Amino acid sequence: MKMTVIGAGNVGATTAQRIADKELAHEVVLVDIAEGIPQGKGLDMFESMPVEASDSRIIGTNTYEETAGSDFVIITAGLARKPGMSRDDLLAANAKIVGSCAENAFKYSPNAFYIIVSNPLDVMTYVTLQKTGLPRNKVLGMAGVLDTARYRTFIAMELNVSVEDIQAFVLGGHGDTMVPLPRYTTVAGVPISELIPQDRIDAILHRTRNGGIEIVNHLKTGSAYYAPSASAVQMVECIVKDKRRILPCAVMLKGEYGLNDIVVGVPIKVGKNGMEEIFQIELSEAEQAELNKSAEDVKVNMDKLASMQY
Ligand code: NAI
Ligand code: 2OP
Repeated sequence: MKMTVIGAGNVGATTAQRIADKELAHEVVLVDIAEGIPQGKGLDMFESMPVEASDSRIIGTNTYEETAGSDFVIITAGLARKPGMSRDDLLAANAKIVGSCAENAFKYSPNAFYIIVSNPLDVMTYVTLQKTGLPRNKVLGMAGVLDTARYRTFIAMELNVSVEDIQAFVLGGHGDTMVPLPRYTTVAGVPISELIPQDRIDAILHRTRNGGIEIVNHLKTGSAYYAPSASAVQMVECIVKDKRRILPCAVMLKGEYGLNDIVVGVPIKVGKNGMEEIFQIELSEAEQAELNKSAEDVKVNMDKLASMQY
């Protein structure tokens, strides 16, 4: 396996490091426009491999030739949020950046899976689909895994139990209207409604929806990257190992969940073909209405793209 990570900032560097530490690829190429940064971080990471007992080779570069023939391209390039900014504020700048990264990478790696991380996530996944022309099973956006990981963390904190025992889903766009599904959330098989009072569940849902900004407000100069990189790498690992796990990922919908021609987060089976299948779980009227609202918010940004050069 050869994997390219575009963007050697916080998310990109930690993503490359996790891939190498897990030895998911024999070669990891870190690409960034900042001169010296991918080279320096790549070499530093490579020098940690003897300690990690991994034979992944990491190189850093400012050009795309070295990325040729990658099996995976993970796009993390772009601006990150600062306090007071929404993910949508990044739209115009990141559409240009992600558009050019996708175009350049695709020239050299037309058979790769593309995992998108840059924000606004759902729209950047759409940009990558457009720029590469790849089928929808090969272009997946990472957000639902992260939002669900935050949700699971907060439930584990509430009950003082292992995070491993929390099963949950967060669907919809990666924004303030994301849709955590408490009805499908269980702790070792027990519905959370039997374990946590409703007012506390509501507080957890609120914290989940605001999980990104909570970190931005702490960091002040950027946004989260440890949980985001772990989430992106979980998607990569599921494909590499053909695990067929059910993960919420942003994908192009073609009528599923009553939504058409829109990229939004839904549960999918992730295996050797990328998206193997979209899992259509039954939603209540209220849950479907929340998903529709979240999809509408994504659509507003997708429509804005039409008047932009990217
Ligand atoms: P960062 O600022 O640490 O790194 C971004 C990197 O992109 C910088 O090194 C910059 O030089 C590079 N870059 C800019 N233009 C480029 C280009 N044309 N080609 C190659 N590299 C380029 O930001 P961070 O924290 O790594 O976040 C990256 C993106 O991921 C942001 O858009 C952020 O909002 C998003 N994000 C999305 C998450 C999700 O759940 N989908 C979670 C966390 C971050
Ligand atoms: C997050 O949720 C910034 O989208 C990023 O942390």
